[in-house]
Amino acid sequence: MSDPGANERERVSPASGAGRWTPASEPEGESDGRSPSALDKTPSRIAGMFDRIAPRYDLLNAVLSAGLDRRWRNRAVDELALARNTRVVDVCTGTADLAIATVRRVPGATVLGVDFSGAMLGIGLDKVTKAGLRSGLRLVRGDATRLPVATASCDAATIAFGIRNVAEPAAAIAEVARVLRPRGRLAILEFGQPVIPGIRTLYLWYFRYLLPAIGRLVSKHNSAYSYLPASVQAFPPPQEFMKLIESRGFSHVRAVPLTFGIVYLYIAEKG
Ligand SMILES: C[S@@+](CC[C@H](N)C(=O)[O-])C[C@H]1O[C@@H](n2cnc3c(N)ncnc32)[C@H](O)[C@@H]1O
Repeated sequence: MSDPGANERERVSPASGAGRWTPASEPEGESDGRSPSALDKTPSRIAGMFDRIAPRYDLLNAVLSAGLDRRWRNRAVDELALARNTRVVDVCTGTADLAIATVRRVPGATVLGVDFSGAMLGIGLDKVTKAGLRSGLRLVRGDATRLPVATASCDAATIAFGIRNVAEPAAAIAEVARVLRPRGRLAILEFGQPVIPGIRTLYLWYFRYLLPAIGRLVSKHNSAYSYLPASVQAFPPPQEFMKLIESRGFSHVRAVPLTFGIVYLYIAEKG
């Protein structure tokens, strides 16, 4: 897979904490999740990482979130308040959980799931087939910044826990704006950091230490579950991310904290 915009790649500087975006310069490669290269979001590196953890991805999601991940995705679908027979693109669809939730919760909805990890899509396709949902749900390989979708052809777009991994998140959001019809709706789920003092301390301990250890043990991948907290820590705070969404052609942008702000649900409208 080619590396779109490799020279202008953006990432969040780990040094900034507050999420100032700087050009990436570190080389690719394996890392321990704490070094600066842990946040290298070269598409081939990210796709390779998800290819390798794909067999354990769903299990780890459920275990590490204590089953809350399913609720967060359902909430994202419900918050969009989609009409019947709506056309949705699910960007960074992974193993298709959000796409599946959408076709189940919205009568007549058709969903196109796009992801660049073949292994994640393969597991998604098995689930879609077993659930008998192939008539309403298609999965295709593609990059978030170059969606294989016609301009203004979708009523809604969703991205769950994917935007943080995209090397050029601003380009991906602009691309979503391209494929949405005027007043089309966007829902983005992404991890945040709780602000309530006691909960924050407990959560950060879990997220920085326990989660990577469990993730490493179960996935047998050395850095993927260290990359997770590192990338969340470097992601822009809600106010800043809302501004980014707005700057790429959206209005009525809001951020809804879920489960004490462990996750944020961003909702916006095109135009
Ligand atoms: C954490 S998983 C989330 C999967 C799914 N949306 C969910 O809710 O479980 C992130 C997914 O984003 C995909 N991804 C990251 N950057 C991408 C890009 N630029 N284009 C397409 N897919 C991308 C990865 O391959 C991975 O499957």
